[in-house]
Amino acid sequence: MFRISIDHNSCTGCGLCVSDCLVNDIELTNGKALPHNENCFKCGHCIAICPQKAVEPDNGREDIKEYDEDFFTIEPETFLNVVKFRRSVRHYQDKKVELDKIEKIIEAGRFTETASNSQGVSYIVIRKEIPQIREIAAKKLKRLVKIGYNIKGLDIDKDDFLFRNAPALLLTLAKSEVDAGLAASNMEIMAVTQGLGAFFSGLFVMIANHDKKIKDILEMQEDDKIVTCMAVGYPNVKYFRTVPRKKANIRWK
Ligand SMILES: Cc1cc2nc3c(=O)[nH]c(=O)nc-3n(C[C@H](O)[C@H](O)[C@H](O)COP(=O)(O)O)c2cc1C
Repeated sequence: MFRISIDHNSCTGCGLCVSDCLVNDIELTNGKALPHNENCFKCGHCIAICPQKAVEPDNGREDIKEYDEDFFTIEPETFLNVVKFRRSVRHYQDKKVELDKIEKIIEAGRFTETASNSQGVSYIVIRKEIPQIREIAAKKLKRLVKIGYNIKGLDIDKDDFLFRNAPALLLTLAKSEVDAGLAASNMEIMAVTQGLGAFFSGLFVMIANHDKKIKDILEMQEDDKIVTCMAVGYPNVKYFRTVPRKKANIRWK
């Protein structure tokens, strides 16, 4: 990924990068911060924390943005309302999702935190291949239901039960379900902020990870694991209010 260098002309030896480095990979020598680039797992905290902008990666600079309060903050109530008002959208307009909107959604996934900063989440965008994949997955689901798989009253004969005629599917793949799940959650919010709707097709994930034909179409490797499948498109449904939820089960200690 990148190696860190620290410009000693700008470094004031304040030690902020040293104390914020989780893996103790920077030391203060003669009043200057010295990166070892040995244990570094590229979390970038040293880049983010330096008041002098003295810490530089040897690539990936295009990802670095200076903090700007106007564009980097959101009111707590606004954020909570976005979370509360988000719905699983299961009716879509017959309209494609623009490439730049899909790219922004994936960008939200890319910048989501991962355990040990592994950044091990990958993505598959499905558009053209939806009909082919839908046919294989629906057939398989019907077979599963026949032999007793319980989908609790859901109507599998309904038109496109799996993807609800959404024009695009965004899959996250990772060894870590937590990493991919966190990424997917931010991706869904990113879709919402762009006027799109989304829902997660857990049924498709269950089927796809065990179906060789689907895995071949998606050119998945043997050890690739789909964690989420988010259907996305322009909503053909309007919601007017938020909905009740169970009270939070909290144990205060
Ligand atoms: C992991 C996961 C899997 C889901 N799988 C499906 C699915 O296969 N089909 C579907 O219609 N909805 C699916 N959903 C959507 C849930 O049914 C939905 O989130 C829940 O009913 C609450 O509704 P809301 O999202 O509108 O708040 C899934 C949601 C999650 C988080």
